[in-house]
Formats: sequence, C-alpha cells, structure tokens
Amino acid sequence: MTYRATYDASMADPEGFWMQAADAIDWTKPPSQALFDRGEHLYEWFADGLTNGCYNAVDRHVENGRGDQPAIIHDSPITGTKSSITYAELQTRVASLAGALVAQGVAKGDRVIIYMPMVPEALEAMLACARIGAVHSVVFGGFAANELAVRIDDCQPKAILAASCGLEPGRVIHYKPLLDGAIDIAAHKPDVCLILQREQERATLIDGRDLDWHAAQEGVAPAACVPVEGNHPAYILYTSGTTGAPKGVVRATGGHLVALHWTMKNIYNVDPGDVFWAASDVGWVVGHSYICYGPLIHGNTTIVFEGKPVGTPDAGTFWRVIEEHNVRSFFTAPTAIRAVKREDPKGEYKAKYDLSGLRALYLAGERADPDTIEWAQDLLGVPVYDHWWQTETGYTIAGNPAGLEALPVKVGSPTVAMPGYDVQILDEAGHPQEPGELGAIAIKLPLPPGTLPTLWNATDRFRKSYLTTFPGYYETGDAGLMDADGYLYIMARTDDVINVAGHRLSTGAMEEVLAGHPDVAECAVVGVSDPLKGQSPLGLLCLTNGVNRPHGEITGECVKLVREKIGPVAAFKNALVVDRLPKTRSGKILRATVVKIADNQEFKMPATIDDPAILDEIRTALQTIGYAKG
Ligand code: COA
Ligand code: AMP
Repeated sequence: MTYRATYDASMADPEGFWMQAADAIDWTKPPSQALFDRGEHLYEWFADGLTNGCYNAVDRHVENGRGDQPAIIHDSPITGTKSSITYAELQTRVASLAGALVAQGVAKGDRVIIYMPMVPEALEAMLACARIGAVHSVVFGGFAANELAVRIDDCQPKAILAASCGLEPGRVIHYKPLLDGAIDIAAHKPDVCLILQREQERATLIDGRDLDWHAAQEGVAPAACVPVEGNHPAYILYTSGTTGAPKGVVRATGGHLVALHWTMKNIYNVDPGDVFWAASDVGWVVGHSYICYGPLIHGNTTIVFEGKPVGTPDAGTFWRVIEEHNVRSFFTAPTAIRAVKREDPKGEYKAKYDLSGLRALYLAGERADPDTIEWAQDLLGVPVYDHWWQTETGYTIAGNPAGLEALPVKVGSPTVAMPGYDVQILDEAGHPQEPGELGAIAIKLPLPPGTLPTLWNATDRFRKSYLTTFPGYYETGDAGLMDADGYLYIMARTDDVINVAGHRLSTGAMEEVLAGHPDVAECAVVGVSDPLKGQSPLGLLCLTNGVNRPHGEITGECVKLVREKIGPVAAFKNALVVDRLPKTRSGKILRATVVKIADNQEFKMPATIDDPAILDEIRTALQTIGYAKG
C-alpha cells in the first residue's frame, strides 16, 4: 500500500485502521474497540483490552523461537566492554528483577523511579516494571539532585532503581550521592532503593532502605507478566515546559505497544531479527521508544551504547558500532552528526569501516540543518531521514515512511504527517493557513494511539498546556508551515522551550534558578544559536540596586547555580549583566528579539516595545561576549 492510501485509511476509518494494527500485539483479552471518547476532548485507546508490555517485548519472542537471538547488545567504549543478552536470557533476568520488586511490595500501579546510565540493566528495570504493571519514570542522569527530587515528589515512587554511577568521558558521575541528596530534599520517601553496583564505583548502601540489585533477587520467585488494561499507564516521562515544574507525560500501555510496533517496519524499515540502533539515552523519549520498547516489541536487536559520538575514543565510534553489530537503521540527533563532522569533516574515520549493511540514517530531537543532512548523505551513501516528534507523542508525527513507501526527501522538511496525525497550520485565531504560510502547528483531536492521554495527576495542566489555545486541537508548541505537497517544515518553538544538543530545556526553569541568586533582581534566559548544539542558553541578568561586586564573579556563581540545581545537561555556560531588559509596555520580556539580535538576524521592531533605545544597549552588551557581531 502507498503512503497516501495508508494515511487516508487512517483518517477515513481510524477505528478499522488501528484495530488492524493492534493485531500485531498479543492481548490476554483483545480490545473490543480502538478509540474511547471520554468527553471534553479526552481520549483513550484500547482501554478495555488486557495486555502486558513486557510479554510483548520479551516473552512472546522466546515462545516464538527467538530465544537465542540477541535482544540487547551493550557496547561501552567508555569502559571498553561489549556484551550481548539473548531474548531468553532477558526473560530470565527481567522476571527475576520483577520478582525482587514484588518481594519489596511493589505492585500494579505503583510508581518506580529509574535513575540509571546506559547499561542493559536500565532496560531490564523498565521491563521489570512493565512485567508487574508498575509505572516507571526514568530520570536522565545529567539532572541534578534537585530535579530528581521534584520528580520523586510528583510521582511518589514506592521504589527507586539506580546504579552506583554513570560514566561521562573522563569523569565518574556519582549517582548514589545524587540519589541520597534527592531523597533528602524530597518530601516523599521511597520504601526501597535497589542499587546496581558498577565496577567503576561501589556506593555505600543505607541500611533499611537500600538493597544491592543482585542480593535483592536471591531466593525470590521470578514474577509472571501481569495483564493490564490498555489504558493502564506504562510510564511517566517528565519533560520541560514553560515553567520550572516539569510535565509528567503519561504513556498508556495499549496504544504505545500498537503504535511503536507499527513504526518499526513502516518508518524504520527493519524486519524482526534486524539490528536497530538509536544512539540516545534511556532518560529521553527516544530511549524509551527506540532503545527499549519499539525494537524489542518488534523482535529486533537493540543496542545500548555508553559513549559519545566523538572522543570515545574518536569520531569513528558510530561507524565502528554500525559495522561490528551490523546495524540496519541508525537513529541519532543532528547534534551528534555535527559533532562527528566537526572532528572528521572529510570522513576519514568512516572510510575505515564497512557500512554496507546500513540502510538509512534517521535524525530527530531538534531541527536538522540542511548542511548536516547533506554531509551525512554524501558520507554514508544512504538516505538521511529527518523526522519530527515530541516526548508527548512518543513517536513520529511527521516523517518519511521508508518501509511503506520512501517518499522523495526535501531537505529541510521532516516530510509528511504519519497515519492518525491530522496536522494543521493555524493562525493566531485558529484558522487553517494556506500552504506555505507560517503558523502554529496543531493536530486535530483525537491524537493517534501511543500519544499522551494526559499529564500525571495534572489533567487541568494538560488541558491548559495543550488543548486550550485551539479548541479541538492539540497544540504542539512548534511553529512552521506545510507546502502544497503536504511536506511540513518545523521552524521554531512558540513557547519558552529551547533545544540544546537535542535536549529539551525550559528557559523558565533556568530563570527560576537565576532569580534565586541574591544579587539578581531580574533575568531572562534565551536560546541563542550554537553551531554544534543547535541552541545554547544565555542568561541576561539585572542586578539588585547597590550590588557592586565584579560582574564576572556574579555570572560565574550563576553558571554554577544552574549546574547545581538543574544539572550539567542544562549546558548553561553564558551569563551577561545588563542594566535593563527589553520589554513590551505591558512588561513582557522580548526574548525572541534578544535572540534575533544575538544571532545577528533581521528583526522587526516590536510595535509594543516600551523603549526602543534599549535594543542598542543590549546589542552592545552582547557584543562584549562575542554575540551580535555584524
Ligand atoms: N549524566 C551526567 N552528565 C551528563 C550526561 C549524563 N547522562 N549526559 C550529558 N552530561 C553532561 C555532559 O558531560 C556535559 O557536562 P560538561 O558541561 O561538564 O561538559 C553536559 O552534561 C552537557 O552535555 P551535552 O550537551 O550532551 O554536551 P557534551 O559536551 O557532553 O557532548 C555532544 C556534546 C554533541 C557530543 C553531545 O551533545 C551529543 O552526543 N549529543 C547527542 C544528543 C542526543 O543524543 N540527544 C538525545 C535526544 S535524541
Ligand atoms: P522532545 O520532547 O525532547 O523530543 O522535544 C520535542 C521538540 O524538539 C519538538 O517540539 C521540536 O521543537 C523539536 N524537534 C524534535 N524533532 C525535530 C525535528 N525533526 N525538526 C525540528 N524540531 C524538532
């Protein structure tokens, strides 16, 4: 079937389309229907079916003869180790870990936080939760204790699964002190923490609360898969919003299994048994969908890679992994490719490897600039597919359905809407725009299966964040346009979210931290262009009257404070003291105008600006730190 026929079928008969897709999933009790309209623009998928995520990702493959196939390959250039776990071994390991959770009193519906680096046990932890119907929430290792504490208080986990440490090039990330610190800060206390002691660092366990990962499994009965309803939350994944409080995106089990399975062949063009690699982190949505669940649900081999595109040990690492493990489809962020290009512009490292098994490179997480796409295409000799999605959707909104029908690539566009997504470009009043006209990108409700039904314990916030601006639509927070062929172009965020190295960050959260510095009276954080990371945060600080310490001291303290409170992942390295901030007459800070000045782009003087002269002051200040250069 062609893309067009498939897409049209999903629009004309969503019920039939998704019920058919649901046949690829094993159900204890098949759903009687696909969509459940809960009223007031809330929807659920496959709500009355019974299934289990772990059974679909692991056990059924063992039963169907894939027991000896590698399920997970772990490749860690940081520790210099490689290992492989078959589906049969994975089943044993996950059932045992799930048994330990049950023995600690964790049951269906209980939350479990997972705070782990890129080791296979991170996936086993997710699958063990899925096995018993516990709701996991993975927290990225680059966040500070305070961010972990916020998540602990929001989802109130019964247990936390963590490793003793993570490994960044040249430094050990001491997870255990971060975890202990977070639990100290949080009002909610977990009953138990299971700690995976890594060779690189043994953590001190706290009596009565912490258990050793393996010791906790001794003598416990392996746990069986617990059937859960299609609308049972599989996980909560926190993501940045406009304010400092992260949003707990909920993923319901049934739709997530059905949709991810559909994408593996139709978008990523892999068949069961093929090796699929997403070089991301389990802490991000890409890691949930395409390091863990998607490939495993589909019977692929997935790669857990503990390393960086460059420096572990060199810019050939990606190509080595692809050759060595025979990767068919490879998925990473444009930043990673830019990092490789910067180190090895002529592709000399690539020439050392045989990449004949690779069929395509997939890019997502941030805007893919045409230079990067073209460079990668020339280097690899395979199609490079940009695709656009969000934590909220869990998989591609717009992409190139290469396994169904590879559409012509238009560089700069992530291609077309995927089945089930009625993507529209709206003006401020919510009217559809003509092809080629810029507007807010919205998706007509209902969203397809696998997307967020709500935010954890925050349905009002869900409505306010996504459903209110354009009634009847989901507001993506991205702006862009669609051409006459239905190709989408994603241009910018419409909110205060920025994207640094493919990591989604809230400028509002950074502003909240900066405002906590005693010498800062007012501040604004903006995302300025960065040749490697796409965007990079820059803080503008107005000091409290009477403060006359050296500015360098204050900005240095602010950089340290953001790292301590949010974490190194914020990559907040630049702050600048200014006399005043550009504002509208009603007091709104003109962040977008500051970005344009810093990036040296043309801009229209905002009609509502309070005092136009301030923009020259800002330009001069920005020039002192290397921005706004003509
Ligand atoms: N645990 C602890 N710290 C982490 C971390 C983790 N899991 N991941 C990143 N960090 C730290 C980094 O060490 C760095 O610290 P530093 O300020 O002391 O150098 C900081 O967070 C910023 O990280 P990052 O922005 O990723 O920059 P980097 O210099 O480490 O690496 C690239 C640059 C381009 C190599 C890297 O950004 C990259 O590979 N990006 C790929 C993006 C990606 O996979 N995104 C996922 C979405 S698909
Ligand atoms: P996250 O939730 O971390 O996946 O971030 C989602 C946001 O990243 C989107 O709303 C976009 O702003 C941006 N994004 C993701 N993929 C792309 C892409 N292919 N092109 C442009 N922006 C993207």
